[in-house]
Amino acid sequence: MATTFVMVKPDGVRRGLVGEVIRRMEQKGLRLKAMKLLQVSPELAAQHYAEHQDKPFYPELIAFITSGPSVPMVWEGREAVTVARTIMGATDPVKALPGTLRGDYGLAITENIVHGSDSDASAEREIGLYFAPHELV
Ligand code: CMP
Repeated sequence: MATTFVMVKPDGVRRGLVGEVIRRMEQKGLRLKAMKLLQVSPELAAQHYAEHQDKPFYPELIAFITSGPSVPMVWEGREAVTVARTIMGATDPVKALPGTLRGDYGLAITENIVHGSDSDASAEREIGLYFAPHELV
């Protein structure tokens, strides 16, 4: 069964949107396999976003993602990567359709509420960064 990595970012936690993210994933039929609350360290942030290190928005992204607690999660279900990204909506909330998390709650591109893996390979890598195998139930 497919799994994906989803993380409520510091803005989502600050705004009290953790429950809303979980509700929408559960309502769709995805199953929660792991979840924790943690403050992402600069080292972990650099590993997570290594592919963006040369982008102009990288310093702002690292400052933001380490600015407060996040809630990383693992979700399981059919085509979990695609399904979770559909629930989240486009990365830029301006382009995200109403009915998606970013379409309904976001406007800024860095502070875009939630992160979701963009492929099965990314999901495997990101799950491994945030969770030990025994934490997956
Ligand atoms: P995420 O899906 O976590 O992956 C990379 C993050 O970089 C993205 O969500 C945004 O939070 C952030 N970001 C900031 N500016 C941009 C941009 N111009 N294009 C894409 N992502 C951006």
